[in-house]
Amino acid sequence: MEGWVEVAKTTEIPDGQCKSVIVEDRMLAIVNLAGEFHAIDNICTHAYVELCDGMIFGDRIQCPLHGAQFNIRTGAVEAPPAYEPLKTYPVRVVEDGVLVRVED
Ligand code: FES
Repeated sequence: MEGWVEVAKTTEIPDGQCKSVIVEDRMLAIVNLAGEFHAIDNICTHAYVELCDGMIFGDRIQCPLHGAQFNIRTGAVEAPPAYEPLKTYPVRVVEDGVLVRVED
């Protein structure tokens, strides 16, 4: 499993919640959507704000500063003022560990 980094235990991120982690100098948001884990950049593409401090509803995360919304599965912008999508990262669950892989 080269290149994969364990960033959390499945039990530490409840459904609809987010954990901020740093992997290879990138700050990621690890989100639990109904037991499915997703990894996206934790920094809004509009300004330097942590998205984990915002709200999660459905499969969207809302920026706490100006309210842009992003799709947690795809990183796509769902509502302005941000217009650049978030980067997403592959996630695996192995036993009780949540693993991500960060590539350039
Ligand atoms: S900083 Fe996120 S919408 Fe402005």
